[in-house]
Amino acid sequence: MIVLANDHGGLVLKQPIIEVLETLKLPYKDLGTNSTESTDYPIWGYRAAKLVASGACERGIIFCGTGIGISLAANKVKGIRCVVCTDCFSAQMSRAHNNANMLALGGRVVGPDLAKMIARIWLETPFDGGERHSRRVDQIMGVETGKEPV
Ligand code: RB5
Repeated sequence: MIVLANDHGGLVLKQPIIEVLETLKLPYKDLGTNSTESTDYPIWGYRAAKLVASGACERGIIFCGTGIGISLAANKVKGIRCVVCTDCFSAQMSRAHNNANMLALGGRVVGPDLAKMIARIWLETPFDGGERHSRRVDQIMGVETGKEPV
């Protein structure tokens, strides 16, 4: 299950990404907003991140004007590795090397077609799983429990 959430600035990207999910036959849960009325992105980033962190949803795709604010909010939730991507190479590497579990996109930064390409690559790329990348991801996550990367 892929969770989707966004503020008013990211709403424009939701339907294009739903099209990608439907093409890939991936079930999704849309938390909203589905309104263009101004709303606070931390609410949406936090709600989506909680579902990913709890395991209720496997991964999340979230949207705001830049992708930045909502990703910062999501990354405050333990267990979340949320990346803002504006290009396909970064999207692929964020999965292969960083095992990102959330993707943030900016509705005022990327157009719908680029957003679809980014999301598709991000959804289809597995984590590399090698010792080197696993060690580094573990170092990132260890900080959440007070472990300094060494
Ligand atoms: C809302 O105007 C805008 O600040 C928000 O969508 C996002 O871009 C924040 O990072």
